[in-house]
Amino acid sequence: MAARVSPAGYSATQIVLHWLIAALVIFQVIFGEEIVPAYRVLRQGQEPAADALASANIHIYVGIAILVLAVIRLSIRMIRGVPQPPADESVFQRRLAAVVHVILYAVIFGMPITGGMAWFLGIGTMGEIHELAKPVIVIAVALHAAGALWQHFVVRSNVLMRMLKPGPRSAA
Ligand code: HEM
Ligand code: HEM
Repeated sequence: MAARVSPAGYSATQIVLHWLIAALVIFQVIFGEEIVPAYRVLRQGQEPAADALASANIHIYVGIAILVLAVIRLSIRMIRGVPQPPADESVFQRRLAAVVHVILYAVIFGMPITGGMAWFLGIGTMGEIHELAKPVIVIAVALHAAGALWQHFVVRSNVLMRMLKPGPRSAA
């Protein structure tokens, strides 16, 4: 999926998108419960109260923003590519990081889609899948952040720094 020649670093846009999406996903996980009261009322075929609806709307708008940013992000990834994993990383670590990245991409696309199907189309099973995903997100983000901090403080690679400071497109 990456471009034929991997860039030497992430672009400023890729970095801003990473941290913006990360902040919004963490917000959604912490405050996700805010939508539940309105959703329960809606499921009973009634109109939620104004304050419950206002809380629900924040969750919905932030979720849709994540989906839009995720589309932009994946498009840039496919056009520009991403830097190679550290050369001296073990096969296990490299595979684990790749699996976690796939899960995180699945989260930023799958959560808005399942949430939207539950809220707008009233598909209850999608709401259940959406809720069940919460611990998966928490574990994936924890593993991902631990991996980044491990690379920085123990292995002392440039992995965390390259997600903070833009790098050139070519190694030259
Ligand atoms: C909820 C939040 C997060 C999501 C959805 C997320 C998602 C991702 C994804 C999908 C990648 C792969 C980049 C790509 O190939 O396109 C990535 C890379 C990265 N993330 Fe996150 N991330 C999150 C939070 C964090 C946090 C909290 C940290 C640090 C403590 C972090 C540090 C990094 C670093 C350093 C990379 C670069 C890895 C590399 O270059 O090999 N991320 N992130
Ligand atoms: C990346 C985006 C999203 C994340 C990370 C996320 C996260 C969450 C979490 C963690 C909960 C569970 C709250 C709890 O019970 O503790 C939740 C509930 C819910 N979310 Fe989202 N959400 C996202 C996007 C959306 C969108 C875009 C919509 C609707 C358009 C939506 C609709 C719902 C609904 C209806 C519930 C209640 C489900 C139920 O009680 O069965 N979510 N969300």
